[in-house]
Formats: sequence, structure tokens, C-alpha cells
Amino acid sequence: MAADEPLVLGIETSCDETGVGIVHGTTLLADAVASSVDTHARFGGVVPEIASRAHLEAMVPTIERALKTAGISAKDLDGIAVTAGPGLAGALLVGVSAAKAYAYALGKPLYGVNHLASHICVDQLEHGKLPEPTMALLVSGGHSSLLLSSDITSDVRPMGATIDDAAGEAFDKIARVLDLGFPGGPVIDRLAKEGDPAAIAFPRGLSGSRDPAYDFSFSGLKTAVARWIEAKRAAGEDVPVRDVAASFQEAVVDVLTRKAVRACKDEGVDHLMIGGGVAANSRLRALAQERCDRAGIRLRVPRPGLCTDNGAMVAALGSEMVARNRPASDLELSADSSLPVTDPHVPGHSHDHDHVHEVSKENLYS
Ligand code: KG4
Ligand code: ZN
Repeated sequence: MAADEPLVLGIETSCDETGVGIVHGTTLLADAVASSVDTHARFGGVVPEIASRAHLEAMVPTIERALKTAGISAKDLDGIAVTAGPGLAGALLVGVSAAKAYAYALGKPLYGVNHLASHICVDQLEHGKLPEPTMALLVSGGHSSLLLSSDITSDVRPMGATIDDAAGEAFDKIARVLDLGFPGGPVIDRLAKEGDPAAIAFPRGLSGSRDPAYDFSFSGLKTAVARWIEAKRAAGEDVPVRDVAASFQEAVVDVLTRKAVRACKDEGVDHLMIGGGVAANSRLRALAQERCDRAGIRLRVPRPGLCTDNGAMVAALGSEMVARNRPASDLELSADSSLPVTDPHVPGHSHDHDHVHEVSKENLYS
């Protein structure tokens, strides 16, 4: 850890986790998370208004906790990074407003960053600088895509994506059908360990020879699993929950890993990174390792706690922005709930920083 590496605080509020991370270069100093997940559980999904209110209440205490853990004072920071999108609009707004307030009050540069690129960049905290280019399989509750990045702060190229549900969404929906609660990923992961992944042959979406090589589809699988369960129930038979969980999970991770390895081979990339909440899945991690080993590809997956939403990932991308001299965002930065994955960095009002300067001067004199 060099003394001149950037010290950055990152704020994440895109969904139900209020995350505040502090990093020095690629070293993690603090990762404070306050989650409102328990409040949403009884509704079977995240309720946006509840999430926003919880962020508001947790914001300042979580920032203070992170600073205390890192043993630094806010005035030592080189920058404040914040998730500008994608995510729930009201939830994002709380983080963006807080980041602006701290940046303004402390006189520190502000960096609006993309949640999805942060899920990739977080791996630098664990395995060092990302090789360039890196192939990334990004699998979360709202997104599933294969991305090729030559520079995580400026160049993220989609190779393929889901045409319907995200992988995490499929886990959550099947868990609901099985009455397992929310979120579904962790509980299905746990039950699947005691089930037989070959018990039921569920369909592998978009896996035909004429199908798009890098796109995913989980909606047909979801319907097939739900129908299978309904049929069992209608016949008055017990549903073998562990076998269903294991067979469903196998269908998801089989397709994800096969397509990711194929993309690496086709593009001649010898590194695969897996990020996002679903990357916490133990079977996905094991099968990806097996297939990457066989193909001579180096696999990089952050530890499970860094795969699900957190503030450290935002700080990690912010730190990379500072290290690469990316321009800071202006204070007109706004939250963008549908920010495209191709925009890792959100400059603010205008995409051209010099131009922003001119425009504001113009406004001043007119
Ligand atoms: O990245 P994330 O924390 O939030 C979003 O940006 O969406 O991802 C949340 C998703 C949820 O759908 C959750 O069920 C899933 O990640 N997830 C898992 C596991 N842990 C979380 N899915 C499968 N296995 C897991 N162990
Ligand atoms: Zn996420």
C-alpha cells in the first residue's frame, strides 16, 4: 500500500443495503452495511419507500461507523464515490444527496459511479488489479450479463445479457413458489447442498445451437419449475424441496458458466471475473472453478460478502477513478435508475467536464 494511493469513501444505496466502504488504493479499510432486508421479507420483495426511509435513517450512522473502523477522519479522504445508478430511484437519491453534502462540506471531489461496474471492480480489493481485458459475468438481482472490459472506469462492452429475468430474480421467484422467504438465493443455495442436482431435468434456456451464444433466458426455466411443483401439489404428493432447489440451481449455473467460459475462449481472454449477488452462490463458484480449470482460464470471484451489495465496491471503483485521473462529477450529479452498464462513470450534468465548466460560467453571466 503506497502512501500516495487514493483514500476514498464509497456510498451504496441502490436497493435495500445502506453500504459505506473505505478503501486505500486497493486495500479495504472498512465495509459498513446496514440492511433493511428483514423489513421487506414479509412483503416478499423490496418495498422502495421502506428502503428509502431506511437509507435515510442509516446513512449518517453507517458513515460514522465506517470512518471509525478505518481509523481515519473524513478530512483525510481524497474523494467520495457514490452509486448514481442503476437501482431504485428514491433509494439512489438518498445516497447521492448524502455524497454531495459530504463532498461539498468537506471540499472533496465527488465521483458518481455505476453499481454494475462496482460489482466487477470490487474484486481488486481481494485479488489486486484487474487484468485488461477482463471478461466479467455479472449476476445480480436485477442484471445478468457477460461484459468485456479493457478499463473498468471507461470501457465496459456487453457481450450478452438476459432477455427476460435476471438470475437472482429467478432464485427469488422459485424461493417464493417454495415458500422459502426472501431473498431466495441464500436459502436455495443452502437447501440445494442436501439435494440431487440431477433429480429433475429442468430446461437450459437459450442453449440450442442456433440460439445467441452469450444471451441468457431464465423465464422458461422459472415457469417449468413452478409447473413441476404445481403438478406435484395437485397430485397430493410431497414436493422434494431439496431436489427441486438443487436441480433448479444446477440449470442456472450450468448455463451461466458454460456461456462465460465460451465467451472467454472466443475472445481469447484468459481471465473470468464473476460478480454480483448471485456470485455468492456456492455451486456457481464450484462449477465455474471446475470449468475454468479445464479451459485454462483464471477465475476471480470476490468472497461472498463482497459479491452482495456493499459500499466497499463503490469505494473500490471510486479509488480506481482517482488513480486514473478521471474527472470528478459535478454537484449537479443526479441519480439515474436505469443507468446503462456501458457508463461506469457518471460525470454529472454534462458528459464533458470542461463543457460543464463553460456552461456554468455562461449561466453566471447571462
Ligand atoms: O447484487 P445484489 O446483492 O443486489 C442487486 O444488485 O440486485 O444481488 C441480489 C441477488 C438476489 O436476487 C439474491 O437472491 C441473490 O443475489 N443471491 C444469491 C445468493 N446470495 C444472494 N443467489 C444465489 N445464491 C446465493 N448464495
Ligand atoms: Zn448489486
